[in-house]
Amino acid sequence: MTRKPRETSVRLAVDLGGLPMANPVTTASGTFAAGREYADFVDVSSLGAVTTKGVSLNGWEGNASPRIAETPSGMLNSIGLQNPGVAHLIECDLPWLAAAGAKAIVNVSGHSFREYVEVIEALEAAGTADAYEVNISCPNVDAGGMTLGTDPASVQTVVSLCREATDRPLIVKLTPNVTDICEIARAAASAGADALSLINTLLGMAIDARSRRPVLARAVGGLSGPAVKPVALRMVWQVHQAVDLPLLGMGGICTGTDAVEFMLAGATAVAVGTANFMEPAAAVDVVDGIIDYCEQQGVADVNELIGGLRC
Ligand SMILES: Cc1cc2nc3c(=O)[nH]c(=O)nc-3n(C[C@H](O)[C@H](O)[C@H](O)COP(=O)(O)O)c2cc1C
Repeated sequence: MTRKPRETSVRLAVDLGGLPMANPVTTASGTFAAGREYADFVDVSSLGAVTTKGVSLNGWEGNASPRIAETPSGMLNSIGLQNPGVAHLIECDLPWLAAAGAKAIVNVSGHSFREYVEVIEALEAAGTADAYEVNISCPNVDAGGMTLGTDPASVQTVVSLCREATDRPLIVKLTPNVTDICEIARAAASAGADALSLINTLLGMAIDARSRRPVLARAVGGLSGPAVKPVALRMVWQVHQAVDLPLLGMGGICTGTDAVEFMLAGATAVAVGTANFMEPAAAVDVVDGIIDYCEQQGVADVNELIGGLRC
């Protein structure tokens, strides 16, 4: 059954750095494919937006298997940004999303600074993305051997280059694998980001004691799901105080109450990720849960929640 959120008089529309969203809920990149794969379960036009899997200039095969491991209240993945390349997204997936009436946030990745720009240029030429989410938390880019998103100077460089390539809303996705996420957030803000999204996965590992081997072929992977929610909430709260930009909060969101907590911490919108693997219509459940909360608490406009934490 294809589901959409229930009717309400609560005002749900938000503005995420120039991207108008009918409600504050999108999907987290890499957990909802390009939207079409979930069309039997979710009316994608009823979400605030659909965020697509990270796309690079040419197709990537991703890492060797096993690349998924279950953990208490979460999962580890080391997919490695597998994707068919930007031309496929432009030809097949974005037209489908547009025809379905969905807003598309395209998650952009690259092996080098130049590749990020080339992906955005290709998408700009096609003109079918509504916003970009620049994933600066992938390893193996030309930033002196460091993970790009952990070095403020590299963050400033890549965000500036992407900024020059587009006038569309530019959302920069932060990694939690840093000592001070506010420093990275400030670097992205000063380079022209319109919004920030956080968090990407936390680096972790799983070990099979019997075989005495790592469970994942690559040994380490990214932890997501309810296990990371307290870390994500803390980081959204800190970044909300550090920079004057709208935030897209994510990390373990499964319910409307989870989403409300992120909004109280300072998120303008939220993304539902790992929960999609447990319940394909989880994003609709989250919108419905936000509506329930607002109706019960007498909140007429969801914008009243943003940063409303009482400390
Ligand atoms: C299987 C999988 C693939 C992912 N792929 C991407 C990706 O391509 N780009 C990206 O920015 N984040 C990616 N992520 C991170 C999610 O978008 C999200 O930031 C993270 O999982 C935290 O949210 P969650 O706990 O609700 O899943 C991926 C996560 C998972 C579980």
